[in-house]
Amino acid sequence: MTTDPLGNARFITARADRDVAPRFSTEVDLDRPRSQVTAAVLRATAHGVYEARIDGRPASDSVLDPGWTAYEWRLPYQEHDVSDLVASGEGPVRLDLVLGNGWYRGDLGFAAANANYGEVISVAALLDIAYADGSSQRITTDASWSAVASDTTRNSLYDGQTIDARRRFDEGAPLGVREVDIDRTTLFQQSGPPVLRHEIISPVAIWTSPSGRCLVDFGQNLVGWLRFTVQGAEGTEIEIRHAEVLEDGELGIRPLRAAEARDVFILSGNEDSFEPTLTFHGFRYAEVSGWPGELAVDSLEAVVVHSEMRRTGHFACSEPLVNQLVHNSVWGQKGNFLSVPTDCPQRDERLGWTGDLAAYAASACFQFDTADFLDDWLADLLVETAHSPDRGVPLVIPDVLKYADFPADFSMPPWAAAAIWGDAAIWVPQALWIAYGDADRLAAQYPAMKLHLESVERYISPTGLWDLGHQLGDWLDPDAPPDQPGAAKADPHVVATACLYRSATFAAEAATIIGETEDAARWAELAERTRTAFNAHYVDGGIVTSDCATVYALAIVFGVLDDDDRAFAGARLAEIVRDADYRVTTGFAGTPFVTWALSETGHVGEAYALLLETGCPSWLYPVTMGATTVWERWDSMLPDGTINAGEMTSFNHYALGAVADWIYQVVGGIRPAAPGYGRVRIQPVPGPGITWAETSYASAHGTVSAAWRTDEGGFALEVALPDGLPAEIVLPDGRVEQVVGGVHRLTAAH
Ligand code: BGC
Repeated sequence: MTTDPLGNARFITARADRDVAPRFSTEVDLDRPRSQVTAAVLRATAHGVYEARIDGRPASDSVLDPGWTAYEWRLPYQEHDVSDLVASGEGPVRLDLVLGNGWYRGDLGFAAANANYGEVISVAALLDIAYADGSSQRITTDASWSAVASDTTRNSLYDGQTIDARRRFDEGAPLGVREVDIDRTTLFQQSGPPVLRHEIISPVAIWTSPSGRCLVDFGQNLVGWLRFTVQGAEGTEIEIRHAEVLEDGELGIRPLRAAEARDVFILSGNEDSFEPTLTFHGFRYAEVSGWPGELAVDSLEAVVVHSEMRRTGHFACSEPLVNQLVHNSVWGQKGNFLSVPTDCPQRDERLGWTGDLAAYAASACFQFDTADFLDDWLADLLVETAHSPDRGVPLVIPDVLKYADFPADFSMPPWAAAAIWGDAAIWVPQALWIAYGDADRLAAQYPAMKLHLESVERYISPTGLWDLGHQLGDWLDPDAPPDQPGAAKADPHVVATACLYRSATFAAEAATIIGETEDAARWAELAERTRTAFNAHYVDGGIVTSDCATVYALAIVFGVLDDDDRAFAGARLAEIVRDADYRVTTGFAGTPFVTWALSETGHVGEAYALLLETGCPSWLYPVTMGATTVWERWDSMLPDGTINAGEMTSFNHYALGAVADWIYQVVGGIRPAAPGYGRVRIQPVPGPGITWAETSYASAHGTVSAAWRTDEGGFALEVALPDGLPAEIVLPDGRVEQVVGGVHRLTAAH
């Protein structure tokens, strides 16, 4: 028999208006004096998001607990060490739980197809106290707790929060409390990292807009909220609206679509502190109205919020625009790794779109230690896929779109098994395997790989090509019209078949690693069949069907082509890149791989030129426009400063930032040569336009760094390795040195 991790704690709810965040409370006499408390642990979770306080003080630094998971099957509880809080007070212990709507009753989704998990939010908590004499005491939630409306009178992740400080002095009428039954087999101890506050950012400018509004610039597109302490006449309302960009000198809120991103703070007349922790916004700019007196740069600050992750990768080079691109990629990850890896953090979406992460996972794993964060998300991916009607990978994880009621005129087909999006089931574990080398986790992730490939098998035609079913293809090809993001140059079936080859190949490798030998043979055979079909149907004298950068990039990097065709394809890709004047011509599918395909086939100059191009569309064009995060579209903002007319225009979407992986591994030169960096290859590939680069990666074995410089004298490289770590150093002239640990200085002719 398994014991319930929350013991007898009941899930409780209050009779309250949907907008209000109820506050549940109890006050309990302790069996022993507080001085005899040796340990106290609070376990809690919610359908909704909760904040626990002990004697009025926060029980934890984490926010937005329990985070977002596939709640139907996996509801994490948190364990907070509250020993000091319980031991240090006096008299009875007071426990408060504030309950917000969060993701559970969250109106998640878009196109008026908002969905949520249920109409009733509830919270459960258990406080275990141990005393010096060996005795213990347990306090649990049940219907004996009281509830009132907290000071939060409106809360929504998309729309924002209203906090009425007057309620702090007048609690109002009690709300009825009742116990709720939930499926307690869904409970498990949180395995992903908590969401925490990180940077605190002050305004860089405050001014009045052309229409007379007070605008604040934080200098960085960030995710979180504003906080401040203020005093003003009782009942004064301060309203704050958020946006990522300005248009015509005013907040550019159209890209937020239906998300209001608006916080309201009502003053009590005393000195009030506000921090809207039951919502979050993606913004760089805020419009503040109703502020009593003059708003100054020290009046308020922005709080950056994301899942806890250790920063592992750093890069700097001689080209400041590239450094800013890397900065934008890092900030894109911060903003979109908030409990779930999302497409974007600001508009009425913020969903775990699988394809976005499939494109970006390798870059993410270099920049931060994402092992626990992504492993937790993959557990959701597995459970959602196993429960999806055709056992194909849903487009978003957690799959809230299954609850959405799309408007009749909305063209959202019930996609099953889409390449790249579905391939996340394999490519994300692949990125984790390469970065962290954890075979147990690979084994746990493997069943989703299998479900994915089995669902794809139904869409393979007798030709052996993945050419049945719907595809999103090379999403956001810059040549696609703004309102048709899927209308790419690349043939979607060529893309899908190449992706199938990559997926089957890694699934075979994964099955071998975890000892599933029969499966390994099955996927190896699928890979071989797919490769043969691809070459027979899509390759003609080295020309790949639809003859555009994306199809060559995938065919080369995934290893689908025969050697002769590969060399031809590399040359053809370089030609396409030159003919486009080094403007980017790829979307979600091709972008992570196009520079890799060029450099691996000997076209380093073209790869560097593509990276360093600043005209639109290019990676550096947004940088020249002042971007501080990666944009969703190559031209989310047009050169004249107007916002792209497309329905989807985010300024914080990491997918197209996936070139970061190539920057770290090829420009920087730090590559894993064995899973988890148990062995490394240092192979920087210098190219025109960059004269030095310094890269480091804090691996589980210690920090690896590589710094190179070129000048008339040639190429000089300094490598520092943790003790005992084997490395092969590959110099631009082809020389290879085998070393183990230590600092190594090498030179080569350039
Ligand atoms: C999201 C994308 C996503 C796409 C797929 C968009 O609305 O923002 O990033 O992958 O839809 O349909």
